[in-house]
Amino acid sequence: MLRSAKHPKMQEKEVREIAGLLRHKPRVAVLTGAGISAESGIPTFRGKNGLWKQFRAEDLATPEAFERDPILVWEWYDWRRKIIAGREPNAGHLILARWEEELPGFILITQNIDGLHSRAGSKNILELHGNIWQLRCLKEAKVTENFESPLPHIPPRCPACGGLLRPNVVWFGEALPRLILEQAQSASTAAELMFVIGTSAYVQPAASLPLLAAEGGAAIVEINPDYTPLSTYASYSLRGKAGEILLQIDAAIRDAS
Ligand code: OAD
Repeated sequence: MLRSAKHPKMQEKEVREIAGLLRHKPRVAVLTGAGISAESGIPTFRGKNGLWKQFRAEDLATPEAFERDPILVWEWYDWRRKIIAGREPNAGHLILARWEEELPGFILITQNIDGLHSRAGSKNILELHGNIWQLRCLKEAKVTENFESPLPHIPPRCPACGGLLRPNVVWFGEALPRLILEQAQSASTAAELMFVIGTSAYVQPAASLPLLAAEGGAAIVEINPDYTPLSTYASYSLRGKAGEILLQIDAAIRDAS
């Protein structure tokens, strides 16, 4: 991937402009991806040591894989739960949680299933791809929270009906939760300013949300160390780590007030 050769002074100027927009544009939407949790030590999917470089999604993240071998699939999710349980939210997660408190029209949309946004204090989160800390019963479709790590028994079973439990996440070939997607689409269309943070923007329909925002006239701010297919649509493409850049924007908001 290309890295921008933007002059640091240019990026500083953009950071100040974005801080200004944040104060004057009440409807702010944020779309996050795996990159925002990278500074917490959680692997991304497509980067250098990305999960999809080491594992085959079709063996581990499809309904067919779960039907074939629920133990294998659960071992993989239990391993990921262990990694996440041992990590903490980083500055990026914490700043977004604070912006939610301070900006009345703020909405957070995430593709992440790690639950780090809630651990950082974010309350209204549209989790497009589900949550690894929720289990769904295959018999009754009931969703329950479960934070045990490691799981005492694999595959876990529903204590009420004995049915097989699956992670309440979206797998390849599955539809996103309809209501959550609709809410994310309306929030994106209505947004005046949209941040796109730490996503490769390859996976649909999440990758189209910033395009809805752009069509609705929103300014798009991308934060990513690398160029993505969205970079050409972005009003601002800030190159760097999410936590570091969000700290700079947050400091610029506070300097100006
Ligand atoms: P990817 O792994 O595809 O992309 C991660 C992005 O984060 C890349 O563009 C990196 O350049 C960027 N990145 C890395 N470190 C960063 C940092 N410190 N700060 C900011 N950005 C950083 O992850 P997603 O785009 O989230 O879906 O992937 C989307 C979906 O694909 C996931 O939700 C998952 C996966 O298959 C399902 O499992 C359904």
